Amino acid sequence: MKILSVESSCDETSLAILEDGYKLLGHLVASQVEIHNQYGGVVPEVASRQHFSTILPLLEELLKQTGIDIDQIDYIAVTRGPGLMGALIIGNMFARTLSELYTIPLIGVNHVLAHSFVNFINPTGPEAWPDFPTLSLVVSGAHTDIQFIDQNLKHELMGATRDDAAGEAFDKVARLIGFGYPGGAKLSRIAVEGDSQVYQLPKARLGRDSLEFSFSGLKTAVLRLVTELKDSGQWNDQTRKDLAASFEKNVVDTIVDKFELAYERTDPASIILGGGVMANTRLREQLVKRFSDHAKVFLPDRSLCTDNAAMIGALAYQMIKHKIPVKLEIDSSLEEI
Ligand code: KG4
Ligand code: ZN
Repeated sequence: MKILSVESSCDETSLAILEDGYKLLGHLVASQVEIHNQYGGVVPEVASRQHFSTILPLLEELLKQTGIDIDQIDYIAVTRGPGLMGALIIGNMFARTLSELYTIPLIGVNHVLAHSFVNFINPTGPEAWPDFPTLSLVVSGAHTDIQFIDQNLKHELMGATRDDAAGEAFDKVARLIGFGYPGGAKLSRIAVEGDSQVYQLPKARLGRDSLEFSFSGLKTAVLRLVTELKDSGQWNDQTRKDLAASFEKNVVDTIVDKFELAYERTDPASIILGGGVMANTRLREQLVKRFSDHAKVFLPDRSLCTDNAAMIGALAYQMIKHKIPVKLEIDSSLEEI
């Protein structure tokens, strides 16, 4: 079964063709990062226009590269939320038009869940798939979500952020340190040369049993520290590196500790990880170190952590397999599958 998948929820236009839920036949990602960088963040209207002008040439390129004819496609899958409304509309109109023109059934997919379902893409095939029930952790620019997912794909949101998502905090602190948008990866690159013990930054006090996250207080503490360091003439390359390392350690420790709590409560058969921040080396290492002796840990290749259409196809396949009723309404704050 071949699924053509479409992703346009934020600042990446992406299309993929996935066979039988695990074999990636073709995958293209057109990133708008350079365009939004000059504005210091994603400008929704600019994002929509970029998706509009990029998406059709991207399909032509994908079909050419793979040698696949559109008539060979069995399903079309599209991100229906969460995301930027205008950006979602472009991808959904495109997918609906193709679906009508070529009489191919359409499936609407949740972008956040799809981030961790990217782990079903694996050349070995279904025998290497994660077992259910599974515990999913998605750490991205807009979400920090822990979800428990059972064998029928029924999912329960166990923990999320009250304010800023982890990726958002990375980007805001990166900007304070002097990097353009999105600065998360750049911050983590200089953090390697810093000492994470130099600055003791605060952790949100949400209660030991809480699975909620909050990163806005941390961001404010970093802002205060940067101002102090600048005022006292101590703002230099080394303090920037030490601050990056201290911040990164704080966020990673918080995420890993909360996830451990969720793990202990659910005892899942596997752990599936995903989202842009999952490209972070410290986070990857700490999660593997903490959990690999206890559970089967699935960690995507770095290239499949940030937004992409391959993950949309992977979740769509599981939804078809588990006979999940199709929903197509666009929802910018979608929470259901
Ligand atoms: O999943 P994603 O592409 O977009 C959303 O769905 O939100 O995640 C993008 C986020 C950005 O905040 C970016 O700074 C962050 O992922 N990111 C990283 C790293 N690579 C990307 N954060 C920390 N360390 C990294 N290496
Ligand atoms: Zn995403």
